[in-house]
Amino acid sequence: MSQLLIKGGSPLAGETAVQGAKNSVLPILAATLLTGGQVALQNCPRLRDVDASIRILRALGCDARWEGDSLLVDTAGLNGCAISDILMREMRSSAIFLGAILARCGQAELSYPGGCELGPRPIDLHLAGLRELGAEIDDTGGTLHCRAARLVGRDLVLGLPSVGATENLMLAACGTEGVTTIANAAREPEIADLQDFLNACGARVSGAGTSTVTVEGGRRLHGGTFTVMPDRIAAATYLCAAASAGGEVLLRGARERDLATVTAVLREAGCHITAEAGGIACACPGRLKAVRPVRTAPYPGFPTDAQAVLMAALLRSRGATVFEENIFTNRYRHVDELTRMGADIRVAGRVAVVTGVKTLCGAAVRCTDLRGGAALCVAALAAEGESRVFETCHIDRGYEDIARDLRGLGADIRWTEEDRLTI
Ligand code: UD1
Repeated sequence: MSQLLIKGGSPLAGETAVQGAKNSVLPILAATLLTGGQVALQNCPRLRDVDASIRILRALGCDARWEGDSLLVDTAGLNGCAISDILMREMRSSAIFLGAILARCGQAELSYPGGCELGPRPIDLHLAGLRELGAEIDDTGGTLHCRAARLVGRDLVLGLPSVGATENLMLAACGTEGVTTIANAAREPEIADLQDFLNACGARVSGAGTSTVTVEGGRRLHGGTFTVMPDRIAAATYLCAAASAGGEVLLRGARERDLATVTAVLREAGCHITAEAGGIACACPGRLKAVRPVRTAPYPGFPTDAQAVLMAALLRSRGATVFEENIFTNRYRHVDELTRMGADIRVAGRVAVVTGVKTLCGAAVRCTDLRGGAALCVAALAAEGESRVFETCHIDRGYEDIARDLRGLGADIRWTEEDRLTI
């Protein structure tokens, strides 16, 4: 497995283009099943999770191939409605295929997605909503046997604004008779991107981005061409990289409106951030100030996916910052690794207190999860000397090539082996 070698301690200067959004393209790939036709996804990021989705599509009889940065998917040949346990476990968001398969085939068989490094990740809200739409689901023995002779539109209310449940139910609702409303829906920008994709293929979905999504079911969808939105978490990562090391960077294609809570915190810490026509520019001083408590919350709150990289950026700040993680129960696993670089972080339950230190030192560290791995890179850029980052397969799940992008920003970072993941 490849390692990352990072020589830190120098400010950044440069620019990079922001990749397409992982959390947008994964549900869209599941949604291609509804079209039964050819879809061209432009700005599609080449990620390990996208590769896992491609394997699921192919296992179901569909075709998927790359043409430059476009992924061409043809779901006309769909000939199965079951996803194997091995494929289900490769990626947490494989559950989103359930709503799409059920809508297209009237039945689906898949196992629960694998356990998660961030803590328990139940799909009870997904299943409850699908049952309300008329699906019969037998989930004994870890396999979900789902049948729906007929799905019927209903008024659904989610117990909490789950991103995945909102998306799964949007996909299933496309295959219902009548209208479905999803109240207390998640409001993440990626849900609006999914709505835009579905509508581009002939669906009638409205309200995504607000807490009520409405889907008029029963419309025949067709293929089309769609451009995936920029990845706000990758953008947040690279802003935090500049905040960590200091310097000036430009993120081409990044949209500040998707990132407002992150840029607000970085401004409070002393960074100068401007939305440019082509992206976001960021100038950061050598040492940041501590900020008011950062509490993760569903969108438009501070994203849990940016908690680790922001924490890494604040390790050398003046003063102490309190973090409160409210989405996942096990999302501080990067803390022990950051401590190896000299960070001062105390964790108690969902709270972590980061007290800024004057210097960080390069160390050998291990990625514990996707964003935790990115946080190690962010911290290493500010650390004196050399860091080695191991178990980078986690990073490959969500970043096309983090070393390429950070080098574009002027960082001294490289992969140490030639056997980089190729898709
Ligand atoms: C998505 C994102 C992930 C992000 C997360 C929260 C994708 C592919 N992944 O994950 O990067 O960290 O949103 O912003 O888009 N929950 C239940 N029951 C359910 C579903 C969820 O209790 O049926 C709970 C979860 O345990 C968690 C919270 O709801 O505590 C939020 O989860 P959810 O919004 O569903 O996250 P994901 O869609 O899995």
